[in-house]
Order: sequence, then structure tokens, then C-alpha cells
Amino acid sequence: MLVLGLQGSPRKKGNTRFLLSAALKEAREKYGAHTQMIDVDAMNIVPCKEYIVCEKKGFCPIDDDMRTLVYPLLRRADIIIAASPVFFYNVTAQLKALIDRSQTLWARKYKLKLKDPGSGQRRGFLMSVGATRGKQLFDGIHLTATYFFDAVDAVYSGSLTYRDIESASDMAKHPTVDADIRGAVESLCAPLARRRKILFLGEQGACRSLVAGAYARKYAGDKLDVLAAGANPAAIPDKNAVAAMAQKGIDLAFHTPRAIGDALSEHPPDVIVIMGPDIPVPKATTAAVIKWDMPAVDGDSASAVQTACENIEHRIKEMVETL
Ligand SMILES: Cc1cc2nc3c(=O)[nH]c(=O)nc-3n(C[C@H](O)[C@H](O)[C@H](O)COP(=O)(O)O)c2cc1C
Repeated sequence: MLVLGLQGSPRKKGNTRFLLSAALKEAREKYGAHTQMIDVDAMNIVPCKEYIVCEKKGFCPIDDDMRTLVYPLLRRADIIIAASPVFFYNVTAQLKALIDRSQTLWARKYKLKLKDPGSGQRRGFLMSVGATRGKQLFDGIHLTATYFFDAVDAVYSGSLTYRDIESASDMAKHPTVDADIRGAVESLCAPLARRRKILFLGEQGACRSLVAGAYARKYAGDKLDVLAAGANPAAIPDKNAVAAMAQKGIDLAFHTPRAIGDALSEHPPDVIVIMGPDIPVPKATTAAVIKWDMPAVDGDSASAVQTACENIEHRIKEMVETL
């Protein structure tokens, strides 16, 4: 389970960072989550230039940290926590730039009609603080969060917002903050932490394992916490696999192949599915190992990849029935 925190305040030791850090710590320590915080102010994220390439091609031509880091994490995350102080009744400009660039994911969903395999389970949560006490203080942020979470295929599952918070250390002195965070993290993490952890291991993590992971998330994301990886990971997903899955309406874009060590460090799996005969079983694993007799796929052959995808979908459906 990956909990991704988007820290929108430029303050290094401010209220927003305090809230988000505490939530991520609770998710790690109590629910075994893997957590990652993006300090948005430290990122190279160019504001949207309205090139509109994303609406036609599904990709943003701007080459910055959105492409290399943020889009892949938004796709992998089970829970996304967007955290920001109120700046003129909305999130900070830094976080807003990230949110605007998620238009690419909006376009893939609504223009290209592609569905992210994690969309059924992903949850979104908002944390915000403001110095004043007005009734409408968080109205703008709630609206922005509603449409951001929809674009990144996350169900908007709640918020913690605090008025009258101004100096950098105000939040830490708040009387109910610890209990508030415990309650929020429990409601977000507890249902997802119960899932069985499964790792699909392929040769390059770019075709068979990626497709199996996508179908497992699609058909059993409520029961399985899914990882996919490769023994010798490729840099990008197999383009024929991406195309074959897109024909089925499933979006594999930004699902960057992962190294086995990286995936195992996220959490030890209960089950490892070895996707082919030449792929070694990881050493010193306590997981149950299932070997699929599935030959390597000729990635250059669109029809071979398509057949493999159909075969994998069939096997995943069979597997899901036994859960
Ligand atoms: C540029 C700027 C704009 C702000 N706009 C608002 C506002 O519209 N309403 C409000 O209540 N507080 C506003 N604030 C105050 C911050 O929201 C408040 O100090 C908050 O605690 C800062 O959180 P942080 O420590 O996480 O950065 C603003 C602060 C700055 C610097």
C-alpha cells in the first residue's frame, strides 16, 4: 500500500508539513504502509501552458518532474493526501501547478476514455490550515480537491481542516490533532491494509507482469495489494502491451517498470507469481511462490502481445475466483 503525500506549503517546518508528516508516520507505523512525501515547492513543476497536447495524445510535452516522478507516483498510489495552507482561499501556487498538470490524467480518462487499473480502490484525502476563521475558508480548496481527486481517479474520502492556524508551530499545539490524525488514517488505511500482498515478477517488468498487475488491480483491488516488477527492469512499459491494454480501455501509461528489490522493499509479499520459466525466484522470501508456465513474449509482435494479454486476463480471472 503506497500512501503519497503532496506537501504544498513552502515552509520547511510549518503547519502543513507537521500534519502530513504525522499522518504518513501513523500510516507507516500502524498499517505497514509505504509512504512518500513530495515537497512540491522543491520540485521542478512548470505550470500548465495549455498546449492541449494531452487532450489529443494523452501526454504532456513538458519534460519536468511531473513526467519523471509525479505521474508515475499518482498512478501507483493507493491513497493520495493533498496538503496545503490556504493562500487566498485556495491551495498554494506550487500545489496548484501540480494539480493543473494532472489535466493529462483527466484527458486520458475523459478524452481518451482510458481507465486506470487502480481507479476502483484509490482514495483521496485533504489536509488544510488557514489563519482566519471564516465560514467559507475552505470552500475553494474543497472544490479544487474534488476535481483533482476525480482527475487522478481517487475517491475523495475526507478532510482535516483547521482554522486560526498562523504561526509555524500552531498546528503542533492543537488539542485534538493527534486524535484527529489517528482517526483519519484509520479510516483511510485499515480497509486497504487487510488485503493480501501479491507480487507479479517478470523478466523486465514491462509486459507480462505489468499486464497481470493491472488485471489483478482491476478485478480484485479490494482483496489484493498488487505489486509488479522485473528481474532486469526495462526503462519503459512495452509499447505493444500499452497499446493492447488501451484497446481494452485499460491505461498502462506512467506505470514504469520496477526493479524487484525496489518492489520488495515496499512490502514483503504473501504470494509471488513468477511469470515465466526463466525468471529466478527471489532468495530468502517467505512468500508462497506460484509459477506460471508462460513463455517470454516477443514484444515486437503486436499480435503475440495481444494474445499474451488475453491469456493473462483469463488466468487472473481464474485466480480471483479462488480468493
Ligand atoms: C500568500 C499567503 C496567502 C494567505 N492567504 C490566506 C487566506 O486567504 N486565508 C487565511 O485564512 N490565511 C491565509 N494565509 C495564512 C496561512 O494560511 C497560514 O499562515 C498557515 O498556517 C500557513 O501554513 P504553513 O505553516 O503550513 O505554511 C496566507 C498566507 C500567505 C503567506
